Amino acid sequence: MDLHPHFRRIWHLSLLSFIIASVTGFLYRYGMLYPLAEWLHFANIRHAHSHLMFFNWISPPIMIWMASSIIKKSDYAAVRNFSVCIYTMLFIGALSFPFFLVYGYHSVPLGFASLPLAAILSGLVMITWYWFIWLYYLAGNNRPRNISKLFFDAALLTLFISSLGAWGVSVIQFLDVQNPLFSSAMTHFFLATFTEGWAMLGILGILWSKTSVSQSKLQISAGWFWVPLLFGSMMIFPFSLTQTLITPVMLLTAKTGLVLIIAGLIANVWFLTKEKVFNTVTRKVILLLLILKILFQAAAILPLEIWPGEHGLRVLYLHILLLGIISVTLIEAFTGVKVTLTKVLFAISVLLVILSLGMISGYWPAHLLPPDIYVWVMLISILPTIPAISIWIFTVKNM
Ligand code: HEM
Repeated sequence: MDLHPHFRRIWHLSLLSFIIASVTGFLYRYGMLYPLAEWLHFANIRHAHSHLMFFNWISPPIMIWMASSIIKKSDYAAVRNFSVCIYTMLFIGALSFPFFLVYGYHSVPLGFASLPLAAILSGLVMITWYWFIWLYYLAGNNRPRNISKLFFDAALLTLFISSLGAWGVSVIQFLDVQNPLFSSAMTHFFLATFTEGWAMLGILGILWSKTSVSQSKLQISAGWFWVPLLFGSMMIFPFSLTQTLITPVMLLTAKTGLVLIIAGLIANVWFLTKEKVFNTVTRKVILLLLILKILFQAAAILPLEIWPGEHGLRVLYLHILLLGIISVTLIEAFTGVKVTLTKVLFAISVLLVILSLGMISGYWPAHLLPPDIYVWVMLISILPTIPAISIWIFTVKNM
């Protein structure tokens, strides 16, 4: 896509955020083997890593793609409005990073009082999401509707709904509700709806924009491709809770949600493959990761004694989705043919990270583990950062 220079700059800042957040992920792995500074705690490093990835890496690029698909590059006022909104989002997201890293969700002493600054800044980021949704609604109201736009509309709806889960956590803390299940359920509702809904629907919207299919040419209603993902994303959060705490109704809801997601994804993969969207090496890696996601989720509904909420499996699954499908698609979509080889290296390094996470998931046969596995996991975790830095330098030079 031919992006406006403001949007290009936003892409560079997002990629820079990916680099910083991935180095933070490496720091976590390093800290598992070697001593870290006393003020650095694992939980806070994880928060700093995941929030920067969500706030500044995933969301702004999907948003500029969406905005570019409904406004003209020459419409200066519209470009400016979207840019001001997303720059603000990036600024607040970046500001929250050091507070998450040092204090996590704890209060920061400010002399006269102490405030949970990282949580407050996260709330402000969510307000910029509403700002974007409003601008998108105003700008896109009268535009023709193609299939990728249907995905974008659904993605924004899930972004809004997921944010309600995040506010819910604050309300529960404020009301001092004692049952930890409520707070955990709200957190995981946010996480599931954000990742499976907002991020996944947004990315599929980008992949659909690579096709020239119109709604009238489809033999089935376009709703079959996005409606199951929309509803499924809101139903699967019980899988992330402790298995013994959830009720049979919650389990049934989660399984139904998973069936919807699997069915929706199979429909998308089948159609996008037929449309020859996965026609480069990097896109073939995206296809492979999509199939892996479908298999992983199918395993969770079969009676295989697999609980996706278990720590090792959870981290593996989240990275198949977020580092794999989402990040590889963003790198593929936003960079040109001049960096094809680097894109392939990025995709391969991501596959290696996923393999290494599979090895420490708790399900890998112990006799097939290499010695010093955690040293290997640490070394592999820095690999995707290297092609990302190279792409960042190349694109900054060519601005
Ligand atoms: C090279 C890239 C990456 C590295 C090295 C990395 C590394 C890590 C590490 C070490 C953890 C903590 C694992 C644990 O608790 O045992 C983690 C957690 C997490 N990462 Fe990443 N990560 C990367 C990319 C990403 C991306 C692209 C995203 C999202 C867009 C992401 C989202 C998350 C989330 C949400 C968690 C928290 C999982 C949980 O709830 O326990 N990561 N990552």
